[in-house]
Amino acid sequence: MSNFLMQILEKEGVPTHFVEELNDRETVVKKVSIVPLEVIIRNISAGSFAKRFGVEEGIVFDEPTIEFSYKNDDLHDPLMNAYHAIALKLATREEIEQIKSMAFKINDVLKAYFLKLGVKLVDFKLEFGKTADGTIVLADEISPDTCRFWDAQTNEKLDKDRFRRDMGGVEDAYKEMMHRVFGD
Ligand code: TMP
Repeated sequence: MSNFLMQILEKEGVPTHFVEELNDRETVVKKVSIVPLEVIIRNISAGSFAKRFGVEEGIVFDEPTIEFSYKNDDLHDPLMNAYHAIALKLATREEIEQIKSMAFKINDVLKAYFLKLGVKLVDFKLEFGKTADGTIVLADEISPDTCRFWDAQTNEKLDKDRFRRDMGGVEDAYKEMMHRVFGD
């Protein structure tokens, strides 16, 4: 699914790490150094946003939000703003601007794509990498592990929240997402 979505994004002008899918388990990707930021875009309140701000899940935002967290397991990936990332030299101001505009473009493309499949793209996490020549590309993965997907009619969760919240039906939800994306 991740490779497929990356190819859709490439066609829409978003540079990604994707080079070639060799088989079900192996993909050739560009060598990058990962920018140590988790970039989270949200269209609808859920998860840590709902918890942090004391609001219910399901509030549809007028505009998407963006936030960064510092990829650092020892510190539990703390939330940070762009100034903090620049101060810590995790990325330059220009790179942050580029990452922001790529992330919003990715949201526009994926939100419309999933809506056609009857799925609301609630929120998702992206990671970006830098190639040897300094180009910023979308890296890592996009999947039900890194996105919240809700059925557009019923709001049924079709993502890793089923596992995180011990709801059961994880495998069926992932199969349903694969079915919506690839058919049969
Ligand atoms: P959150 O509401 O827990 O902050 O998560 C926002 C989105 O980012 C959600 O779709 C899950 C995804 N995510 C990851 O893929 N990896 C992570 O480590 C975290 C914290 C969130």
